[in-house]
Amino acid sequence: MNPVYIEDLDRHVGSDVWIHGWLYHKRSSGKIRFIVVRDGTGLVQGVVTPEAGPVAFELADSLPQEASLRVGGTVRAEPRAPGGFELAVSRLEPVHVPTTPFPIGPKEHGTGFLMDHRHLWIRSRRQTPILRIRDAVLWAIRSFFHERGFVATEAPVLVGTSVEGTTTLFPLDYFGNPAYLSQSGQLYLEATCAALGKVYWIGPVFRAEKSKTRRHLIEFWMAEAEQAFLDHEGNLALQEDLVRYVVEAVAAERQRELAELERDPALLLREVGERFARITYREAVALVRDSGVEMEFGDDFGAPAEDALSRHFGHPVFVERFPAAIKPFYMKRDPAQPDLALCADLIAPEGYGEIIGGSQRVDTEEELLAQLREANLPPEPYQWYADLRRWGSVPHSGFGLGVERTVQWLTGTAHIRETIPFPRTLDRLYP
Ligand code: 4AD
Repeated sequence: MNPVYIEDLDRHVGSDVWIHGWLYHKRSSGKIRFIVVRDGTGLVQGVVTPEAGPVAFELADSLPQEASLRVGGTVRAEPRAPGGFELAVSRLEPVHVPTTPFPIGPKEHGTGFLMDHRHLWIRSRRQTPILRIRDAVLWAIRSFFHERGFVATEAPVLVGTSVEGTTTLFPLDYFGNPAYLSQSGQLYLEATCAALGKVYWIGPVFRAEKSKTRRHLIEFWMAEAEQAFLDHEGNLALQEDLVRYVVEAVAAERQRELAELERDPALLLREVGERFARITYREAVALVRDSGVEMEFGDDFGAPAEDALSRHFGHPVFVERFPAAIKPFYMKRDPAQPDLALCADLIAPEGYGEIIGGSQRVDTEEELLAQLREANLPPEPYQWYADLRRWGSVPHSGFGLGVERTVQWLTGTAHIRETIPFPRTLDRLYP
């Protein structure tokens, strides 16, 4: 008989089924044994009574946590059981029985210990729904762009130049020449968008961030889009549509996981239900200062400033038109105020901080060369990028959405390290 998945049990009430999985937890009460089995799609409680026979009954007593097993029985609706169903067990077959205790138990473990055991920690009750929501976020991003006619394309991860400033570059030796891990695929997407019109990619990017915050990873995934003939205004509208689409998809497809994380989908839907707020950098600085956080015009938003902004609005807010001096070389200047860039960061609500950075791009070779000079970057490695402004340059814009920051917000997770299977942080490369 083929096994069924726990997430599909509602379709098998009254039937005799097999479930293949791992023993998550067990307890006994008088003559009854309860085994909680997980299979990656959810958890189900199996009820083992003496009628299941001496072998199954003994196994329900002796199998240790994380033993892998096949369990068979009849599915019953049980509103009091987690997930709403339980299995009246009639068969139990061990697949692998561990001989040493599983290191992660129900008791509290320190973060260092859990991170050292990340390869096992991902099996636990909070971690699996987070990773399943991450999957839904990635799918929603792809289907949004696909529906809109964007072409999925790729950017290289090994590159010869910086995009987002030289201080967070990861240097490599490329057969005797300097190379780096990519900080963003943007420059390459600008080239492919001139070939394909509108493009996106989702890929890993790297920042040698010396900061240890609950919002920074060294390696993270970015969903980046670039569209020809799109201006700053159109760019913000596209971002707003994407974020709303992703939230609606997650709220619809991952209800059970959100409930397991005690995250209310109605709250998330309310947050994206209205037009996103929009303020200028100048207004944002005033707002941050009013909230009691020290900040000068021309400063980047530090964690406390971003926190203040993020908590102020009940929905995402675009902060636009930053001073060009604190933004990368590729942003187009606002023609009306040339010391400002035509850019915006999108700040998620509830203190989850910036989830998107985007801008209209500089579109003449002269301006690009001047801006490279201002940023103290040599023009030679960017010759190919300048070429894009030489033949058929068009207004174009794009953005990058941080996948883990988005998952962090949607799952209500305090630290970003739980939003990716194997986080890379300042002090961690293991496991
Ligand atoms: O604002 P950023 O640096 O923008 C870019 O890299 C642009 N080149 C993207 C583009 O226009 N195509 O990064 C974009 C997003 C941020 O808003 C944030 O969500 C996320 O990437 N991000 C990080 N996430 C985790 N850890 C880090 N160290 C991050 N740095 C940025």
